[in-house]
Amino acid sequence: MARKKYSKRKERARKKEKIKAKKAIAIPNEEIKRELKISAIDEGTVIDHIPTDATFKVAEILDLENHQGIVSIATNLQSKRIGKKGIIKVGGKSLTQAEVSKIAIVAPDATVNIIKNYDVKEKIKVKTPDVIDNVVKCSNPVCITNNEQVATKFYVLRKDPLKIKCHYCERSMGKDDIEII
Ligand code: CTP
Ligand code: ZN
Repeated sequence: MARKKYSKRKERARKKEKIKAKKAIAIPNEEIKRELKISAIDEGTVIDHIPTDATFKVAEILDLENHQGIVSIATNLQSKRIGKKGIIKVGGKSLTQAEVSKIAIVAPDATVNIIKNYDVKEKIKVKTPDVIDNVVKCSNPVCITNNEQVATKFYVLRKDPLKIKCHYCERSMGKDDIEII
């Protein structure tokens, strides 16, 4: 009698283990890890697939230092698509078209996710413009744009890695020379 009870208990414990194991399989490991690193937001914008070295540039473009809502920045995360990547989650903020275009200049593979009520409502793939108006500073100190009240203008020669040429002084610049105005 006592032995039977014991084995029943054992059986129950084994079933419990099985259920536990199933639960663990149901949520992919990668997802658990990711959510631990940087938690989901209820309302706002997630900028994903940012090249690691551009993560803080994107934060600067969006002026997140002065944002009043939640801001989570993660960088050097593993990405199947781009090797290492950065993610920025901004609670209570939607991006303007101008902000999305600026992001495309430093993060041509970025995805902008609009989150509403914890769901991804919209997923926008950014697009590098052909002409960049008044966003990037010319690296040539004698360029007219650095000496007079003239807005900068660059032509995009190559999108990834970025190569641009100043409309005024014809200086070519690569992604490492980019300074956002
Ligand atoms: N996300 C979030 N908060 C939510 C919903 C999503 O922070 N409430 C984040 C996810 O962590 C992810 C991004 O928004 O980084 C996009 O979510 P989703 O489309 O569900 O992820 P993926 O399918 O991995 O996106 P993709 O195909 O663009 O890689
Ligand atoms: Zn110039």
